[in-house]
Parts: sequence; C-alpha cells; structure tokens
Amino acid sequence: MALLEVDSLKIAFELTGGKRLKAVNGISFSLDEGETLALVGESGSGKTTAALSLMRLLPKNAVIDGGEIRYKQRDVLTAPEGMIQKLRWKEIAMIFQGAMNALNPVLTIEKQMVEAILLHETVSNEAAYARAEMLMRRVEIDPKRLKQYPHQFSGGMRQRVMIAMALACEPKIVIGDEPTTALDVMVQAQIFELLESLKKEMGLSMILITHDLSILGDICDKVAVMYAGEIVESGSVEAIYEDARHPYTQKLLAAYPIIGKKRGLPDFIPGQPLDMTKPVQGCAFYSRCHKAMPICLSRPPLRTVEGAHQFLCHLEGEA
Ligand SMILES: Nc1ncnc2c1ncn2[C@@H]1O[C@H](COP(=O)(O)OP(=O)(O)O)[C@@H](O)[C@H]1O
Ligand SMILES: [Mg+2]
Repeated sequence: MALLEVDSLKIAFELTGGKRLKAVNGISFSLDEGETLALVGESGSGKTTAALSLMRLLPKNAVIDGGEIRYKQRDVLTAPEGMIQKLRWKEIAMIFQGAMNALNPVLTIEKQMVEAILLHETVSNEAAYARAEMLMRRVEIDPKRLKQYPHQFSGGMRQRVMIAMALACEPKIVIGDEPTTALDVMVQAQIFELLESLKKEMGLSMILITHDLSILGDICDKVAVMYAGEIVESGSVEAIYEDARHPYTQKLLAAYPIIGKKRGLPDFIPGQPLDMTKPVQGCAFYSRCHKAMPICLSRPPLRTVEGAHQFLCHLEGEA
C-alpha cells in the first residue's frame, strides 16, 4: 500500500480581476515507504504548488479544483485541521525553495533550530538543545558550530541546517524543493549524498523537486516530468534516462546533459512556458514542440511504454 497517493489533483490560483491560473492540472502519483520521487520541470510548471498541497500549506488564493491526496489512506484535503497539525512536520516535512537564504542573520543557528523544534514539539528547552546537537551531527556539521551565525556558514552548510530542521520531528516523508539549485556542482553532489545516506539511515521517503534532470543520479527511484501543471511523462529513473519518450523530456535531458553520457551540446528549449490563465487546447507543449503535428491540437492520449513508464503524447515516442 502506498504511503502517499495523489489522484487527479487540480489546483488553481484566483488572481485579481477574476482570472484563474490553473497551476496543477490533474496530476497523479504515489510514493511508497523508502521511495524517492523526483518532480522535474521548468520554473512555473506547478511543482512547488503541488508540493505545498501535500502539507496543506497552499497560499490563501489557491483553490483545490478536484482530486484527492491520501496519506496512509487518510484524505488530506478534507481532514480536520487538528489532524493536519499532526501530519505537518511529524509525518511530512519540507525543505522550502530558497529557505537557506531565509535564515535570520541576527540569530545563531542554535537559536533558530531550537525555536523550530519548540514550535513543533512539546519538549523541554534542554531536550530541544540536545535535539539540535543530534540533528547537526546527522547532517555532518560539528555541533559546536550551533553558536555561529548564518553568515559564518557556506551555502551548502546553510542548506544542511535546513535539512536538519526538516528532520527535527522525524518525518516519514521529506520534500526537498530545489534543495541544491543555488549551490555549485560539487556542493550539489555533497547535498545529494547526504540526502541519500539520511534516506537509508532513517528509512525516509522523499520527493525531490528540481529543474535539472541530470542530478537525480542514484538517489531517485522514479521521476515525474511536469509541464504546465501536468505530468507529461513518468517512470523509473532508468526509463527516463535511457528511454525518454515525450519530446519535452527529451529536450530537458538535452538541456541538462548527464555527465559521462554523450548527449551532444546543451540545448535550449525554445519558446515561452504556457500562459496558464488561458484554457489549453490539445497538447500543452504544442507551441514549443519540435515534433508538433496538426493532431497535437487535440488532447493527447496517455500512453504506456511498459509497467509504470507512461507519457502524454500523440506520437508513439521513439527514443
Ligand atoms: N500565490 C500565487 N498566486 C498566483 N499565482 C501563483 C501563486 N503561486 C504560484 N503561482 C503561479 O502558479 C504557477 C506554478 O507555480 P509553481 O508551483 O511555483 O511552479 P514551479 O515550482 O514549478 O516553478 C506559476 O504560473 C506561478 O506563477
Ligand atoms: Mg518552485
């Protein structure tokens, strides 16, 4: 039985002037215990919105337009607030996009970590300090450095602190929203290594959000590629790396070449992401697709390659 199931989820934002922006357009995925899912797509494809909905942390102008989220078979979207309080941080935790730059510059790391712990758990101050030390060790930082301020930490160290905070209540699922985006390549790799060892050590499930397909490496089990609020292709990491079928996935792979694999020069995906306040006719990727045909103006079918490898396209999708 899946730990988390998302079924045909639709989320819109109400904009001023009565317009609506359809940010998430009927996505479905599931996450098993110990499994890691990568949610991949360009900026604006709805990744953060989808992630926030899992913890019911959507902004006020967001509306759920349909679908279901089930955590351990319980309905998250309709659950009473009390149940959500127990789920947030204790079952599902999130490393927010850009969070490492949101540490308060005038407070020590210790103060900020202890405050975060006390906010979510009823423990004594001493216990919270001890937990902060334990968490620092877990993310491989000397606990002595708790007395320091954010500016004394490198970007990678600050991101480790954010990971530590997400782990504070021993969650089952950790969502990392672009956890390595602002970091250089070496540090990116170290953060991924850390996440991978934490996953093994703590038996975590993870959802990793990124726009860079090349960095999923060994940590992810499966991938869902999002475009304009839809999952246009999903499958195992191997299926996506070796046998991508959707033209968008193929373009993304070319844009972020996988080190050690010949994929030619980095490529750009021409055109602009879709205006999601306008209704989509046919395939959302039509206007930017190098393989577009007249039939693509009608709704594409969801095709199954084999097992869990699926893609949304009129083309058979030769690799
Ligand atoms: N609070 C909001 N109000 C209105 N539009 C929003 C809000 N948050 C996000 N959006 C829009 O929803 C779409 C999806 O955004 P987001 O989920 O942040 O995408 P991603 O994380 O993939 O970059 C974008 O078009 C974005 O501008
Ligand atoms: Mg985002």
